[in-house]
Amino acid sequence: MIGNTHAEFVSDAQPPIKSEAITILAIESSCDETSASVCVDGKILSNYIANQTVHEQYGGVVPELASRAHMQNIVPVVNAALKEAFPQHPTPQAQLQTVDAIAFTQAPGLIGSLLVGTQFAKSLALSLDKPLIAVHHMQAHVLANLIADIKPTFPFLCLTVSGGHTQIVLAKSPLDLTVIGESIDDAAGEAFDKTAKLLGLPYPGGPLIDKYAKEGNPLQFKFAEPQIPELNFSFSGLKTSVLYFLQKQEPGFIEQNRADLCASVQYTIVNILLKKLTKAVQQTGVKNVCIAGGVSANSALRKGLQETGEKQGWKIFIPKFEYCTDNAAMIAITAYYKYLAGEFSSLDVGPTARAEW
Ligand code: KG4
Ligand code: ZN
Repeated sequence: MIGNTHAEFVSDAQPPIKSEAITILAIESSCDETSASVCVDGKILSNYIANQTVHEQYGGVVPELASRAHMQNIVPVVNAALKEAFPQHPTPQAQLQTVDAIAFTQAPGLIGSLLVGTQFAKSLALSLDKPLIAVHHMQAHVLANLIADIKPTFPFLCLTVSGGHTQIVLAKSPLDLTVIGESIDDAAGEAFDKTAKLLGLPYPGGPLIDKYAKEGNPLQFKFAEPQIPELNFSFSGLKTSVLYFLQKQEPGFIEQNRADLCASVQYTIVNILLKKLTKAVQQTGVKNVCIAGGVSANSALRKGLQETGEKQGWKIFIPKFEYCTDNAAMIAITAYYKYLAGEFSSLDVGPTARAEW
């Protein structure tokens, strides 16, 4: 029979009455990182991440290969996360008995990748008879800011910048998050990766642009900034602008000017992000400002955010690097707040590649 086979776990169900600590096992598999984390009462006890190097030779993530790698990685990654969190228990079976709920990334992401984590989490929940919690990957990136001991107070703004998304989110409480601006085309991470490719750098190019930019002059080359209304972004024009500029140059130009090109591209992207963030603060009056997603590792963005914050009187929060890129700890912390709110999923839940929120 297809249907809701576990009615007591549907959303809106009452959370099980529990006076002791709440322990969550969370799984993230939305793209090319397989990750598992254990969180007790909002404190992260472990966060294991298996990266997939297989994609490097293809210049981007190959969905089919990502799914296969998740299949290989998921059991060892979950076992490692459980072992680190509960060294006092000798076996994964004993460690799993201490878990109160299983959480997983339900959307958005590569469907084949999401399926592996979803199916694994559902099977665990069914066999252990534990509640299941579905988590939205982008909400989790924002709530990664609640992992640190010094947390932002609500309301706060979060600039989420990753390979797939660029968003400004207004957070009024852990589960009251509204997207107030986003990219209408490429994400900021894509802008880094695609221009890096034009400059002859391998995937993912973002970290390499950051590295070469340290030696370069950010004002050497000027690339047009798009004029997009409201708090939205557009990055596809930057790639074209860099492409046309490079086509006009002599052979060897990229090699001779790599550092200046990287610094100038980075300067343009960071400028676009900080201008919109400043506009968001002016519009909302919210001065607690957070950052999330893989691009928040960028040194110019971090520096620019700190400097702008100091000038404008903002309070800045930047999660530890391991909680910025894709990780299961952010899924676990989000699931913890969903557990407190009684937001459980039924066992017939499936993944979705795209998901509004
Ligand atoms: O959040 P994330 O790990 O995965 C997604 O959900 O997309 O973000 C990956 C993105 C890639 O585009 C990568 O190039 C970019 O983050 N990235 C950086 C840096 N480190 C990672 N971009 C610029 N500078 C960096 N240091
Ligand atoms: Zn992500």
